Amino acid sequence: MEKYNTQKSEQLYRDLKEVLLDGVASSFHRAAGEEYPVAMSHAKGPYMYDVDGNEYIDYVNGLGPVILGYSNDGWNEAIARQLKQGAHFAAPTESLLTLARHLVRDIPCAEMVSFQNSGTEVNLFAFRVARAYTGKKVIIKFEGQYHGWADEEKISIDANSVEELGDYNHPNKIIHNPGQPGESTDNICVLPWNDADIVEKTLQERDDIAAIIMEPFMCDSGPINPQKDYLKRVRESATRHHVVLIFDEVITGFHMALGGAQEYYGVTPDLATFAKALKAGFPMAVCAGKSKIMQCGVHASGTFNGNALATAAALYTLEQLENPEVYRRFDELGTMLSEGINRVAEKYRIPVFTDHAGAICTMLFGAKRGMYDFRDCLQHLDYEFYEKVVTLSKAYGLRLTPKRGRMYLSTAHTEKEIRRTIEILDVVFAELTQEK
Ligand SMILES: Cc1ncc(COP(=O)(O)O)c(C=O)c1O
Repeated sequence: MEKYNTQKSEQLYRDLKEVLLDGVASSFHRAAGEEYPVAMSHAKGPYMYDVDGNEYIDYVNGLGPVILGYSNDGWNEAIARQLKQGAHFAAPTESLLTLARHLVRDIPCAEMVSFQNSGTEVNLFAFRVARAYTGKKVIIKFEGQYHGWADEEKISIDANSVEELGDYNHPNKIIHNPGQPGESTDNICVLPWNDADIVEKTLQERDDIAAIIMEPFMCDSGPINPQKDYLKRVRESATRHHVVLIFDEVITGFHMALGGAQEYYGVTPDLATFAKALKAGFPMAVCAGKSKIMQCGVHASGTFNGNALATAAALYTLEQLENPEVYRRFDELGTMLSEGINRVAEKYRIPVFTDHAGAICTMLFGAKRGMYDFRDCLQHLDYEFYEKVVTLSKAYGLRLTPKRGRMYLSTAHTEKEIRRTIEILDVVFAELTQEK
């Protein structure tokens, strides 16, 4: 297998850096330690093509949204039809009503929805709703979980070691950016995830908690499954203490099941936030929840809320995902991918844990078991090896998510791409184990 030449990407990055902050539109577009990101020219189905003409099988899916594959024909046509009618109205539309009705039908906690544009924004909206509804201020968030880049969200999302996270019972509140005021943590309480006792204890001790926000399947650090009954017990604690339970389903929504992780695990939160896969590539986010909570006096604002193109994209996407065959296929392909990775990893004696839930597949190195929480990840996962796998795979035509071991399937992936993926990983694992 020949390694790709990506000279044009390198040059483009150099040029971009002169005029664009950091040379990328989002810090997530270049992996830490990566010399330069590969620049793309076009994409179709599960494939992306870079500016040097190299082809990649893609499991990044544009950081999650591209659940129908790139440049899906039906999706393109739905958007083209809307373009002819107008791209943006800042007014109610009939298609917005249709979309809202689909969402209320598909999402278990949704009696009512509100539209925003990004995951960051919609989680801030949910914080405000929870605070208005309960009259309390503090939001519980969990170590290693990411809810967006805003001041009150980007707290303890990462760490270099367990020591940095601090005492298990009273974790540090880690601020990650210059310019993020220390006071942004004042109304945030950080806890370790997957421990229902610590949530109950905190709610017994404090009377200022407005909400608990969590990824019900912890994708941003693992992915990590909730312990048996964890979600159910947190649900019960939240109800008992009049605290709003928010599921951040920005990743899990429409990926794990049509109704998200709440459908997958059978635990219904008070509010849930959705973004990425909802519209297969356009910016749109939704807060869904119980009417009595949603109608607590907080109003959605934003020029682009309910944008007509995003609405058309979301409607088309939901209509495709409402076919249960989609999730049966994800399961089939996820199993094939997991088994294939396990087989080649075994061949080179590489400890790996693989899993899949809907369209989200997991490949974690360093341990042969699933992780328990973020501390467990920091102690047992071999992030360095994972980064090497990502870098080398890219040189052979495979795009994986940097760092977190998460791979997204789309409806465009087939057995052919999975087989090719395993072939490439075989070469990658061989080369990396020879290096050792
Ligand atoms: C779980 C989760 N919540 C929220 C966000 C923020 O979403 P956005 O990047 O659309 O602001 C992300 C982004 O990756 C996420 O993974």
